[in-house]
Amino acid sequence: MFKILKAEKLADKIYLMDVEAPRVARACEPGEFVIVKMDEIGERIPLTICDYDRETGTITIVFQIVGASTQRMAELQAGDAFQDVVGPLGNPSEFVSEDIEVLKNKKMLFVAGGVGTAPVYPQVKWLHEHGIDADVIVGAKNHDLLILEEQMRAVAGNLYITTDDGSYVRKGMVTEVIKDLVQEQGKQYDVCVAIGPMIMMKFVCLLTKELNLPTIVSMNPIMVDGTGMCGACRLTVGDEVKFACVDGPEFDGHLVNFDEAMKRQQMYKTQEGRAMLKLQE
Ligand code: FES
Repeated sequence: MFKILKAEKLADKIYLMDVEAPRVARACEPGEFVIVKMDEIGERIPLTICDYDRETGTITIVFQIVGASTQRMAELQAGDAFQDVVGPLGNPSEFVSEDIEVLKNKKMLFVAGGVGTAPVYPQVKWLHEHGIDADVIVGAKNHDLLILEEQMRAVAGNLYITTDDGSYVRKGMVTEVIKDLVQEQGKQYDVCVAIGPMIMMKFVCLLTKELNLPTIVSMNPIMVDGTGMCGACRLTVGDEVKFACVDGPEFDGHLVNFDEAMKRQQMYKTQEGRAMLKLQE
């Protein structure tokens, strides 16, 4: 069993948990994820690792209620436990294996959307701990849904916040901030990392393609086994079929077929609706 040490509500439908998982905490790197299962009948839920502490043997997960399973998960409290936490799964972010001196000369821009701020945080933190301060754009629907602001501010070179409704800092989409930084302020970046809702990543990639800015995205399709066997997380990247769980989750954003990925994500909507109704019975 994997004990929950802390359970906190960060925003409407967004929760953070510190979970005792010493082997995962010892081995994980930014970019990787875990699959958690609450109990015998629980669904397998893939979650990015938001933070880890190798000494205390804990990992931090952040999740949003998107269906019946995450709804049940949100009810767990400190002292409860997950039956399974499997990981680390997937591949670490590319920069983790790059030469630090080469990396120090790279200008990196991170773009986080909504709950995508959680997987961006450990990447920016890792770079900061290695003497590299990246620029970070965080977009949220409104001020209340903005998460991890203080944590991100502590590790980012520059933090640019934007909200869809203008309730905090500035109004507008993350793409408008990218345009401002690159076209108005003349900032030059070597690579952009965008993580958030698929629709956001799609539009960031359309823009960065125009700007000739190489872009990495982290894909979060439906997953079942997380080991490349079931095919649920299939994506088309360029003219190749890839599995997000074993080939990713990070891919060249300019090659990902987002329209197909979003269509596949819709496939389970009806079953999910039925499961939610059952939960309310
Ligand atoms: Fe089954 Fe990726 S989750 S192949």
